[in-house]
Amino acid sequence: MGYQVLESVWLAPNVRKLLVAAPHVTRNCGPGQFVIVRATPDGERIPLTIGFADKAAGTISLFIQAIGKSTTDLCNLETGSSLCDVAGPMGKKTTIHNVGHAVIVGGGVGTAVIYPQARALKEQGNYVSAIIGGRSKPYVILEEELKAVCDAVYPCTDDGSYGFKGFVTQRLGQLITESTANPVKEVITAGPVPMMKAVAEVTRPLGIHTVASLNPIMVDGTGMCGGCRVQVGGQMLFACVDGPEFDAHQVDFKELSDRLTAYREHEQRCMAK
Ligand code: NAD
Ligand code: FES
Repeated sequence: MGYQVLESVWLAPNVRKLLVAAPHVTRNCGPGQFVIVRATPDGERIPLTIGFADKAAGTISLFIQAIGKSTTDLCNLETGSSLCDVAGPMGKKTTIHNVGHAVIVGGGVGTAVIYPQARALKEQGNYVSAIIGGRSKPYVILEEELKAVCDAVYPCTDDGSYGFKGFVTQRLGQLITESTANPVKEVITAGPVPMMKAVAEVTRPLGIHTVASLNPIMVDGTGMCGGCRVQVGGQMLFACVDGPEFDAHQVDFKELSDRLTAYREHEQRCMAK
């Protein structure tokens, strides 16, 4: 019953990849879209980006970081178990242009969010660079998969245990400076909110078009509950139907951050219980 978990593997100490049978999702999904899943009928609804979608096999890959009770429950699902709900695809597909040189910037599990865009940008004929970061080597994910679809991949670690030592934003600044012969024309980013804000501040003065995939709290995923509201260019929008991708130079990241931490105490109580 439900949606079968065909494979469940740890990609990093706190990130699990689930390969799930969901043919109704693969029929018409694209980069940037997501599903809302529940592990059990009384479980919380969790939005997850569709990482890899295999139309022929009818499967999707989902990447989950264990941060609270429900995400920990999802991470504990083993091969052969099942999800009770997989609703989607939801959200807008990424608009992919041939811009010349596009850079995707992923932080932690956010790297999984932008893998489909990297592949789509390459298919459109772009030169694609990927900058992917983690606290230390075990937290850098999908490097090999990205190498297969990008022209260059730059892993970064905060502690210098692998690749560039420093934040992805530092490497982005360097790459932009180095790329005078093939200037960076577009940046797509996903990861922690402070990282996406910092990416926007690197590209803003240079006028480089920058898109951020936002991860607000979501409930219904249909634009009805208001849970996912975000301020973009002074307008109130709903990430589930108007996004989840927005012009990073227009996003109010402070409000996003405040809303994401609103239930932290409740979450901590649930975990303790
Ligand atoms: P993390 O805190 O370990 O950071 C990952 C990398 O992001 C770091 O290695 C660094 O390179 C960069 N980074 C972090 N803070 C930065 C800052 N202030 N300035 C510049 N660069 C910075 O990431 P994690 O623990 O793997 O957490 C991933 C985060 O991604 C979670 O907060 C999760 O909520 C979020 N997330 C976002 C999306 C999305 O669509 N945007 C989807 C899933 C998860
Ligand atoms: Fe309810 Fe977006 S999740 S409006």
